Amino acid sequence: MKDLYENFGSGPPPLIWNRTGFPVIPENEPNLGIMYHLASRIEKYMCRRRPEDDLKYKNAVCDISSQLNKKSRIQGGKIISKFEKQKIANALPAFIRKRKTTRNFTGIQVSQEKLAMMLGMATAPRDKDPNIADFQEKRVVGSSGGLYPIDIYLLLWNVEKIPHGVYFFDVNEFGIRFISKSNVLKKMEVNQFSISDEELKKASGAIVLVFVNERIEWKYGNFSYTFGCLEAGHIMHALSLGASYTEIGLCPIGGFCHSEINKVIGLKENEEFSLYMCIFGS
Ligand SMILES: Cc1cc2nc3c(=O)[nH]c(=O)nc-3n(C[C@H](O)[C@H](O)[C@H](O)COP(=O)(O)O)c2cc1C
Repeated sequence: MKDLYENFGSGPPPLIWNRTGFPVIPENEPNLGIMYHLASRIEKYMCRRRPEDDLKYKNAVCDISSQLNKKSRIQGGKIISKFEKQKIANALPAFIRKRKTTRNFTGIQVSQEKLAMMLGMATAPRDKDPNIADFQEKRVVGSSGGLYPIDIYLLLWNVEKIPHGVYFFDVNEFGIRFISKSNVLKKMEVNQFSISDEELKKASGAIVLVFVNERIEWKYGNFSYTFGCLEAGHIMHALSLGASYTEIGLCPIGGFCHSEINKVIGLKENEEFSLYMCIFGS
């Protein structure tokens, strides 16, 4: 099995689809979800920036307006009902209207209270419904089958009274568990490319969303990875709203060196994967 993962560098294996539209998994193949992840993650060699890549990116950015102008496939149908866009926007709570990506920070430490509130927006227990007999505590953000396959890790360097290091957010205990002391700021400088070193120093930390395959694989099989990605999106959006609510800044980051960050956290290889992260700060 290990060899299969290691040799799996040249692209995903061919899939055979059965008549119901589900992929047929050859016997002794590893979980396809894991394979997709290995094929799509950003590897270390991609993390080294080359001038020609920068040029490509610059051109892509210049071209962005033409990309946005690409018409939706549905053009002909008559609009049968039109809503008042700005009126609807104005009716939303201000923190929702104000959500945005922040890549500049002040250097002021984020308080533990604000960190807790931001995390709570994604993980706090939801109100109990007296008409529903839940066998477990449910959260404000949903999860496929209520199995919660995403774990939350924190890499902190500028949070009130918390030493630099790697931490785990224990949702049940609603507390931060120490994992290791580490120069996490340095690790961020080399493993993500969205925030400059100067701004990163002024930020407070990173939140890494980690998919734990075995938690849902028994139920969703080869769809488990897709569900993990969907859930990470839900959680990140909630964190982003939490940041807006507590008036701190947050930048979601999909492009980072997954394998390096996995090592920084100390994840179990081929079982736990970082999918998505953000940098936050005042
Ligand atoms: C899935 C996803 C991945 C993203 N990855 C990055 C990233 O790697 N680097 C970055 O600077 N911003 C990233 N962003 C932030 C987007 O650039 C940002 O959301 C977009 O420009 C819209 O701006 P807004 O969030 O202020 O509305 C990501 C956003 C999403 C939803």
